[in-house]
Amino acid sequence: MSAHPTAATGALKVFPDREHLVHALAEHLLALAERTLAEGGADRPFRIALSGGSTPQALYALMAAPDYARRFPWARTQFFMVDDRFVPHSHADSNGGMLQRLLFDHVPVPKSNIFLMPDSGASTEAARRYEATLRRVTGLNTLPTAGNTTTPPLLDVCLLGMGTDGHTASLFPGQDVLSNHTDWVAACTPATAPHIRLTLTYPAIAASRHVIFLVAGADKQAMLARVRAQDTSLPATAISGLCDVTWYMDQAAMPLTA
Ligand code: 6PG
Repeated sequence: MSAHPTAATGALKVFPDREHLVHALAEHLLALAERTLAEGGADRPFRIALSGGSTPQALYALMAAPDYARRFPWARTQFFMVDDRFVPHSHADSNGGMLQRLLFDHVPVPKSNIFLMPDSGASTEAARRYEATLRRVTGLNTLPTAGNTTTPPLLDVCLLGMGTDGHTASLFPGQDVLSNHTDWVAACTPATAPHIRLTLTYPAIAASRHVIFLVAGADKQAMLARVRAQDTSLPATAISGLCDVTWYMDQAAMPLTA
């Protein structure tokens, strides 16, 4: 059993339904932002990477609602992407476009704090461009690992989902990108999902202080049970974090054994 926090050993936070789930997670993100900013000093922003898919959309809509929007430190938060479908941001399947529509268009976040993944050019070159953006904005040249606490985290929070095939970010089963431990961002073409993808790699996700999985619905229960049983054939199982990995889920997704 690895010393550092992983998807198989991380804490489980279970809520009766999706409404309670997203409210609790939204408050948790606010608390993490406030704590990070208090600890980090005036120049250190709160850095968070967000996922796409359907489950987090209710969370983004809640964060855009006036009650929450007036409490969140938008001006001191930098927003990155965990992954995206390599389509124009105007495309219905674009995670970046979805985030812009559901969240960023409704809150006072400076445009210069939003780092969507590129949506044009060659996908491999686009992955290089996004990695260069992460290096430039964070000032990091190497990624911290769980062992060395001297290097600051790449991200304070990395918000992940999980598919019914055990994929997370755009790390799909059987894909070469699963063994890419050098790049921070990679382009890949999943065999079982539409569109070329850009995705953070395992080392980039592992360089996040707090990794949070948001999963909901009974259709995720079987995969979650297998991840918790250390099934290494599932990409989500290999996810780790610097400080902690936490599962935010509704009761329906809670495996009978976890
Ligand atoms: C994407 C996501 C992906 C997502 C899972 C779960 O681009 O699709 O980043 O990793 O988190 O597919 O998706 P659902 O929330 O729709 O089940």
